[in-house]
Amino acid sequence: MADPLAAFLAEPVAQLERTRPAAYVELWTIQGAARRNTLTRALVAELLAATAAVDRDPAVRAVVVTGEGDKAFCAGADLKERSGMSLEEVHAWLDSLRALMAGLEACRVPFVAALNGSAFGGGTELALACDLRVGAETAELALTEITLAIIPGAGGTQRLPRLVGLGVASELVLTGRRVGMAEAKLLGLVNRVVPAGQAVAEAVALAALIAHHGPIAVAAAKVALQQGNSLPLADGLTLERREYEKTLPTKDRLEGLAAFREKRQPVYRGE
Ligand code: COA
Repeated sequence: MADPLAAFLAEPVAQLERTRPAAYVELWTIQGAARRNTLTRALVAELLAATAAVDRDPAVRAVVVTGEGDKAFCAGADLKERSGMSLEEVHAWLDSLRALMAGLEACRVPFVAALNGSAFGGGTELALACDLRVGAETAELALTEITLAIIPGAGGTQRLPRLVGLGVASELVLTGRRVGMAEAKLLGLVNRVVPAGQAVAEAVALAALIAHHGPIAVAAAKVALQQGNSLPLADGLTLERREYEKTLPTKDRLEGLAAFREKRQPVYRGE
């Protein structure tokens, strides 16, 4: 039987530009500045396909996600498309967003959101599902759903408190207010704030730092961080040990020790 999600998400229309700005780093740019890079069904389908593709591609070790132009990273669900959806389609839409955000988290490689501009609703949730966030000082973040008489449906109520704590998350979800980058940095909502126009360059530099490291260790660290974050400490430590064990039989681990001994830079091959 056909996959209902795939059927719902059909016809990607090249709304996602994929380039290689640095060795082992992919840059994904959401195309659609005129509509503020909204999440459409076609874009979600492309993002899901691209996530599956990089998960299988050893030539990619980190991904930067950004939006076209300087106004918006992503203005969330495309409300024009959304207003024409039946109730059944809204259910499928929410399933697709959940699959996308979970897919980013489960992917072998880390994602860095480059907030070239503002992120609202599902755009903020997309940024929250990334491992790191870099913001241009002109950008704002907001979970605006409450202002539309709905609630965040792509993980915002769950991922935001895990990142910034329940009190701050409650305020942002219940008020829907916009957070500027200075505040976002204080809250730990973004890792770095840079001048306007430099978010992508900074995010690519961060991604390149990650991409220099052994990809098996990076993937193991990502699993330990992502999955451990919602586990009791003892279970998290067991998870960490399991992931550590994955690095022990690798050639990369021996290369790291050899490079240290020989006072040179290691060359990690993901073996
Ligand atoms: N869905 C569909 N279209 C959207 C959109 C969205 N989420 N966000 C922006 N657009 C469209 C606007 O309708 C407008 O289209 P038009 O030129 O055909 O009228 C175009 O993008 C530009 O938007 P505009 O509001 O003129 O630009 P701006 O730079 O002044 O403001 C935003 C940008 C993102 C702050 C503002 O558009 C906004 O608040 N959008 C809604 C964001 C939101 O709440 N998203 C969460 C959805 S759950």
